[in-house]
Amino acid sequence: MRKTVATLLLLVFCLAAGAQSVVEKMSLEEKARCVVGFKRALWPPTNNGIPGRTTPLPACGIPSLVLADGTAGVRLSRRGQERATAFPADITLASSWSTEVVREVGAAVGDEALAFGVDVMLAPGMNIIRNPLCGRIFEYFSEDPVITGKMGAAYIEGLQSRGIGGCAKHFTCNSQETNRGHNDVRIAEKALREIYLRGFEICVREAKPWTVMSSYNSVNGAPVQEQRHLLTDILRGEWGFDGAVMTDWSIVPHNTAAQLHAGNDLFMPGADHQVEAIISGVKDGTIAESDLDLACERIIALAEKCADKKPAAGPDLEAGRAVAHNAACESAVLLENNGMLPLSGGGRAALFGVRSYDLVARGAGAGFVVCPPVTQIYAAFRDKGIPTDEEIEDLYLKYVAFAEADIRLNEKIKVHIGLPLLPELALSKKLVESAAERDDYAVITLGRTSQEGTDRKLKDDYYLSDTEKALLGDVCEAFHARGKKVAVILNIAGIVETESWKSLPDAILNVWLPGQDGGAAVADLLFGKVNPSGRLAVTFPKDYFNVPGAEDFPYGDLSEGRNYDYTCYDEGCNVGYRHYLSSGVQPSYPFGYGLSYTEFKYSGAKVRTSSKKTVVSVTVTNSGAAAGKEAVGVYVASPDGIPELKAFAKTGLLAPGSSETLTFEIPADYLKTFNEGKNCWEKRRGRLNVLIGADPSDPKIKLTK
Ligand code: BGC
Repeated sequence: MRKTVATLLLLVFCLAAGAQSVVEKMSLEEKARCVVGFKRALWPPTNNGIPGRTTPLPACGIPSLVLADGTAGVRLSRRGQERATAFPADITLASSWSTEVVREVGAAVGDEALAFGVDVMLAPGMNIIRNPLCGRIFEYFSEDPVITGKMGAAYIEGLQSRGIGGCAKHFTCNSQETNRGHNDVRIAEKALREIYLRGFEICVREAKPWTVMSSYNSVNGAPVQEQRHLLTDILRGEWGFDGAVMTDWSIVPHNTAAQLHAGNDLFMPGADHQVEAIISGVKDGTIAESDLDLACERIIALAEKCADKKPAAGPDLEAGRAVAHNAACESAVLLENNGMLPLSGGGRAALFGVRSYDLVARGAGAGFVVCPPVTQIYAAFRDKGIPTDEEIEDLYLKYVAFAEADIRLNEKIKVHIGLPLLPELALSKKLVESAAERDDYAVITLGRTSQEGTDRKLKDDYYLSDTEKALLGDVCEAFHARGKKVAVILNIAGIVETESWKSLPDAILNVWLPGQDGGAAVADLLFGKVNPSGRLAVTFPKDYFNVPGAEDFPYGDLSEGRNYDYTCYDEGCNVGYRHYLSSGVQPSYPFGYGLSYTEFKYSGAKVRTSSKKTVVSVTVTNSGAAAGKEAVGVYVASPDGIPELKAFAKTGLLAPGSSETLTFEIPADYLKTFNEGKNCWEKRRGRLNVLIGADPSDPKIKLTK
């Protein structure tokens, strides 16, 4: 993947002449090749894992740009020797409620991308988590557009600070994977603008990504990739995007002329028939050469940005691990704790669940990261000198070694993208009881993965499997009967059902997909070295059928019709917490929920508004006995409206008794609502209710302005 200095010098020389004058000298074929990816770079046969690159045109001084997948790290190939850090997934990072943490991860990914010769990271995923069953749920941040937009912007700022391009993807409404190439999203303009486009808008305005990826799906009857209204009028015209738009990896043939005219500048991964279609289209007048010239200018401008980076040394995987570790700690969400946590470190632990020995560090598919060995939970206990039940450990380690060898033998292709997960192991009641007899407490880790191209299922995925339920039930019964406690670690790619079993254990810690140092992070959190400060950026419903639009999603096997050929987003703007707040339906864990080992008090809240912005400030004091951080959200609602998150931040580490004043600036534009009748944004009328606190169903302070 590394480029020669000569190529870069040639580029700098040619680009000094200006993109426009380079294009003027290009032949029609060169121009067509410039905007179509270099398909020979696809894997196999190369073994570096990159999914694509742009076409090198040495005669024009245009180098080939290397594009690599993310978000959780640079995706390399298992077949190569190199390894990249697996950072926590997007859904994990969003739970940090800290743009600083996400910016740091973006910068660390950028450092590694630089070392691997990558120019643009195809990251972050920024679609809205509309439904818990979305196959790519872990590649997206949140059900809320402000969290999505701000986290996406922070990640891209981090990447681009290292000279690596970001790619906000998949623009737009790619919130389901079933039939993703053809599915038509039927959605009202208000929901499109306020929910599904808003995150991209914030990201484009605040971080200026070098690229945006247009999604496979259709919206309101036409492929997104062919909609000039979305890709040019809104993205460039309204938001001022000045980078390049690339198509997602063309799993379906579209209309090349319409895609180019709509505003796609780069056709990925690229095929000869696209080059031919462009050449013949220009010749027969169905493609305006000016559209092609503009796309070439944007690719050249992208190459110019990419050329402006420092040469890198090899990847610093120790630095990567430290960033991944910190992000995993910041993002863990404590869901239940009846006093069990933090653990004192005394006594012996029984570690149950395959995931205690084989952590799911990252998700599968394009988001899979081939990383150095993952820190396992059992090993992290050992590193801390915490005694664990060796008999149980031995059993699981043998199972993991055997099952892994079996899978590697039989599922070579899938293993390449991180599949499948080893199934949970059924234990006899007798075995669990003997552990409860000799050990002092239990930890059960339950895990999930998911992947692109297919959506999650209800059975054995959203709902726990029978084996998992039996394990949970038996361990809780046996340990509780002896006055001993049980903690559950959720190591999940997406939301799972919790309502039916959450009262069984004494504590539940959700670490999502925590990246390669997840095991060590779990141990630091359980033993109180780190106080959990994550908050949910998605809602955990009591049951799948409480989800807004639950029936308008492919939750069963489908091959045509509703939810396959088309999906109606009839819930409109009532996505996630907006639905639970407006309907009064109680979730299992609300958006913004998360416990701590300490407590916080809020005081001195102020709201000031001017024509340009609203400024909210509040003082947060640690009123408990342990040091900790507090995540804070600012929600704004019209007098009769639902609170909507407009800003959020996290305090630094506050010692007991100490305080920090957080200040939030909300641009006036972010308070507007979309008027469908007039097709424009307009100011809210009347006084505004301002709610302060991470969880809008339990605000700490309410003000009216
Ligand atoms: C995915 C993209 C990814 C691309 C390249 C596509 O199928 O949707 O997210 O960047 O492949 O791997």
